[in-house]
Amino acid sequence: MGLADKVVLAYSGGVDTTVCIPYLKEEYGVKEVITLAADLGQGDELEPIRQKALTCGAAESVVTDVTASFIADYAFPAIQANALYENRYPLSTALARPLIAKLLVETAAQYGADAVAHGCTGKGNDQVRFDVAIAALNPDLKVLAPAREWGMSREEAMAYGEKFGLTFPVKKTSPYSIDRNLLGRSIEAGPLEDPWNEPTEEVFVMTRAIADTPDEPEYVEIGFEQGLPVSLNGDALAPVALVSALNDIVGRHGVGRIDMVENRLVGIKSREIYEAPALLVLIAAHRDIESLTLTGDVTQYKRGIEQSYAQLIYNGLWYSPLKSALDAFIAQTQTRVSGTVKIKLFKGNAIIAGRKSDNTLYTDELSTYGEDDKFDHKAAEGFIYVWGLPTRVWAQKTR
Ligand code: ARG
Repeated sequence: MGLADKVVLAYSGGVDTTVCIPYLKEEYGVKEVITLAADLGQGDELEPIRQKALTCGAAESVVTDVTASFIADYAFPAIQANALYENRYPLSTALARPLIAKLLVETAAQYGADAVAHGCTGKGNDQVRFDVAIAALNPDLKVLAPAREWGMSREEAMAYGEKFGLTFPVKKTSPYSIDRNLLGRSIEAGPLEDPWNEPTEEVFVMTRAIADTPDEPEYVEIGFEQGLPVSLNGDALAPVALVSALNDIVGRHGVGRIDMVENRLVGIKSREIYEAPALLVLIAAHRDIESLTLTGDVTQYKRGIEQSYAQLIYNGLWYSPLKSALDAFIAQTQTRVSGTVKIKLFKGNAIIAGRKSDNTLYTDELSTYGEDDKFDHKAAEGFIYVWGLPTRVWAQKTR
């Protein structure tokens, strides 16, 4: 008796998930492996990947384009939340996981599979995100994670695959582990494992080296409607088109790279290189349009919510009651977050150059230092007397 008869496997076409196909059949006694490859705008040709799964022993091979949902339903809420894990990582990889988990669960139901599988190892965050998201969507569905159990190195995994007729192109395999989608690329391992080693230019694809960026600054204007990015330089664009176009513009100026040592949920520190040009600029612009349209207390309270929100995404709790509750808070704050932010891109910098909104709370006659000033300066004295009263009492009693 095998662990499962029919399994839907999240499939990328890479070595690990490819070896999972024979492994599930030979070691776990699975009768039918159905592979599922998600198109998240990573730019790969997915038809060859679909064929490859069949060649490697999959009974069915499914490819689904979910780029539109990825951007609209996963990335845009994270932008409204200004979500940056440890204040830096915009969660470009993490955001795709709950969506792939949802696809696995749906595909399993469609094909009557009794389990789903993924190729994550036991050291990363992604295994947690898959397992927990799948459990949240269908707590009865079994999750198989062969790469968490097999204990094979990459060479051993390839040798295992070869026993069952798999072939791996002899082209020099990259020392890096790379995850890619429309939002960005995550690059780790190889020489990057030493946090002192500077990444070489070859690891970057979406962003140019500063030496190769234009010598003239470029301005972009990003329009927001209720906290959602809706236009670029005055042109209304659908979410995917907007992110794609902005990736090109921003990446050309060398903006969007991150080099950080982050704390994984499983307790390990890991050195990651990211490039996420559009996403980082959209978050910066969104935060800025909020500065004009939210009150001070909501802005400041929301900052705490944002950190929790980023942590929830990072830690695999996209489908969770706390996440839903925070979503409701964020949605409530976004109703008036509309307007335009102007950004200057130049030599690796994205500099906010201006913002405007029909919903602005900025009031000229209160803020001005000019002659139109309507602020009652004398009223400040009484305010400061009351505001400072506890401090004055404390100072008198303790000196
Ligand atoms: N550290 C990032 C995260 O946990 C990215 C993980 C995948 N990275 C990779 N290079 N394969 O979301």
